[in-house]
Amino acid sequence: MDAVPIVTIDGPSGSGKGTVSREVARLAGWHLLDSGALYRLVALLGARAGLDPQDVDGHAALARSMEVEFGSDASGGERVRVGADDVTRAIRSEEAGQGASRVAAWPAVRDALLERQRAFARPPGLVADGRDMGTVIFPAAALKIYLVATAEERALRRYKQLKQKGSGANLAALSREIAERDQRDSTRAVAPLMPASDARIIDSTGMSAAQVVEAVLSQGRSLGLWS
Ligand code: C5P
Repeated sequence: MDAVPIVTIDGPSGSGKGTVSREVARLAGWHLLDSGALYRLVALLGARAGLDPQDVDGHAALARSMEVEFGSDASGGERVRVGADDVTRAIRSEEAGQGASRVAAWPAVRDALLERQRAFARPPGLVADGRDMGTVIFPAAALKIYLVATAEERALRRYKQLKQKGSGANLAALSREIAERDQRDSTRAVAPLMPASDARIIDSTGMSAAQVVEAVLSQGRSLGLWS
């Protein structure tokens, strides 16, 4: 086990990891690592810097050097900044998600982000949200959750999320993009999307976010991670 207790929450796009991880971290009073945001940032900053989309070394250099700051706004919502630039909304676009999935397939980029991710483990504990948190980044985590849901339900959740934020969304296009991203994330050679052998799988289809949060909290409770 790690010196600092770690709970990993992995799973495919739209499985609800983000919402659940944020809430579990908040209720436990632990730190949160949103690893997807780091890959999204590499893609976004690469595009803004005019890098060739296939420039592996250029993106890896960005992954090493970018100065990112995770925080929250007055109402507890996420805030992501790079220097003085607020990129909270920009990294959430479907374009940044697709770009993230592309750069995330490159070992050089993954390596460049490895220690940066491990540095998030600080007392009293860390909830780490991603694709390879339990398999590669924190293989000794105290509790590993792997969240799944049907592709239809995941597309529908993304759709509602985008609508709520006032962004335009098209359900059929979202379904296609999610399927493409799943395919790329689970077939890549390095750190493919898959449950760790010791992960506990939760199928969240038909469950509310609050129910999934409670399921994770109760697993943590039974391990004595929190009361
Ligand atoms: O979770 P999120 O949708 O923000 O992640 C965006 C993309 O980043 C994923 O589709 C995946 O390709 C990549 N990713 C990854 N490993 C992680 C987190 C995200 O490869 N730990």
